[in-house]
Amino acid sequence: MKAVYPGSFDPLTNGHLDIIRRAAKSFEHLFVVVFDNSAKKCLFSVEERIAMISEAVSDIPNVTVDSSSGLLVEYAKKRGVGVIVKGLRAVSDFDYEFKMALMNKKLAPELETFFMMTSLKYLYLSSSLVKEVASYGGCIRDLVPPTVEARLFNKLKEKSGDDI
Ligand code: PNS
Repeated sequence: MKAVYPGSFDPLTNGHLDIIRRAAKSFEHLFVVVFDNSAKKCLFSVEERIAMISEAVSDIPNVTVDSSSGLLVEYAKKRGVGVIVKGLRAVSDFDYEFKMALMNKKLAPELETFFMMTSLKYLYLSSSLVKEVASYGGCIRDLVPPTVEARLFNKLKEKSGDDI
């Protein structure tokens, strides 16, 4: 069975990477898909997010990194995918994820959503917190892959230059 792991990945964290590695072991093929969510103002472009994920998963043979700007269920149909993989951290994620799972079920009853619990060490981790810590010069070394750490600090430097 093929699966899709969708998200904004702005940027990819070690929590995302942990879900990708575990899901890739459970499914024949995993599509990691960057969705261009118009409601969210992202720091990185879709191309930059794809590049960071691709670098981080280059050793996992059954993972494809892709992007989409449409409905997740349409992407899943196009790729012949049967399962949506989502990571769950705390109870606070549940309400939002539950609603999305039910909406996706309504749109495509043949698709299943599988929730994977985050590993304990990543329970508090989110892309937003990583960006906030980095923006104040804090250490994000154990929170994101090295390629993301370098790109994030470069991006924040670029942005601060833009503001002058
Ligand atoms: O990392 P995020 O921002 O929590 O991911 C949200 C994402 C990309 C999974 C969600 O916005 C999504 O599925 N977008 C695709 C468009 C879509 O199908 N929307 C209806 C969802 S019920």
